Amino acid sequence: MKTLALYNIKGGVGKSAGAVNLAYFAAASGLRTVVWDLDSQAASTWYLHGEQSAAKAKSVLSGDTPLGRLVKPTPYDKLTVIPAEFSYRYFDILLKKVDPPREAFKRLLKPFSEQYSLAVLDCPPAISHLADNVFTAADLILVPVVPTHLSLRAYEQLREYFEQEGLPLRKLKPFYSMADRRRSLHRELIENPPALMQNAATAVIPYSSMVERMGEHRAPVAAYAPGDDAALNAYAELWLEVADTLGFKTP
Ligand SMILES: Nc1ncnc2c1ncn2[C@@H]1O[C@H](COP(=O)(O)OP(=O)(O)O)[C@@H](O)[C@H]1O
Ligand SMILES: [Mg+2]
Repeated sequence: MKTLALYNIKGGVGKSAGAVNLAYFAAASGLRTVVWDLDSQAASTWYLHGEQSAAKAKSVLSGDTPLGRLVKPTPYDKLTVIPAEFSYRYFDILLKKVDPPREAFKRLLKPFSEQYSLAVLDCPPAISHLADNVFTAADLILVPVVPTHLSLRAYEQLREYFEQEGLPLRKLKPFYSMADRRRSLHRELIENPPALMQNAATAVIPYSSMVERMGEHRAPVAAYAPGDDAALNAYAELWLEVADTLGFKTP
């Protein structure tokens, strides 16, 4: 099983939209996929119709509630979700006390490898103990970057944190998200990406009302967008790049 995280220090940049759309394409390509919603705002839980579970963060971390018991079906074949639970907001405090402190998520996910090919972690913003656990558990960390200087700066801060902490920079893969080519700054940064974006995904997710409507449809864009939709095709392209990086065979 491979673990893919959607992470950014910033909120509102397209992590949850990315997690749900990429997980959908993974499952549609035949990979058994679980989305673990780690953000107590529960966006991906909402999009995937995950029912709330009664489990508390403490009981999950102690092993009293196996993570596998929290898995819920979604309307899509081969795609399941571990819903966010409101008590997850305490995760961060609890994770500090686990020993070793950065390996709890990796340990919790281990039993999934028998049944699943891919786990997708939808993360809350901020650098935290939870984020440290995500960085250890993930094989690949996709970072949505809005083509603006502030967003690039946030990505730079994340890279600096990886350097400071001796974490593997090769796990980080940024991609442009919510890109609006009508804006000259967005266009410039996409056409002449700064060195920071050297290993960015080729796929650029456009700013799109079709993505905005995910909340209304409670579904990934593939479930309702026309086949020629730009955002749909950008997510499909991003999935192919991610699949390739993770070593999944794609047609
Ligand atoms: N490509 C996009 N185009 C337009 N709106 C988007 C796009 N991606 C996300 N959004 C919208 O922006 C908001 C934040 O997106 P979300 O994926 O929840 O970000 P995050 O998980 O990083 O906080 C949501 O209302 C979502 O519908
Ligand atoms: Mg989110």
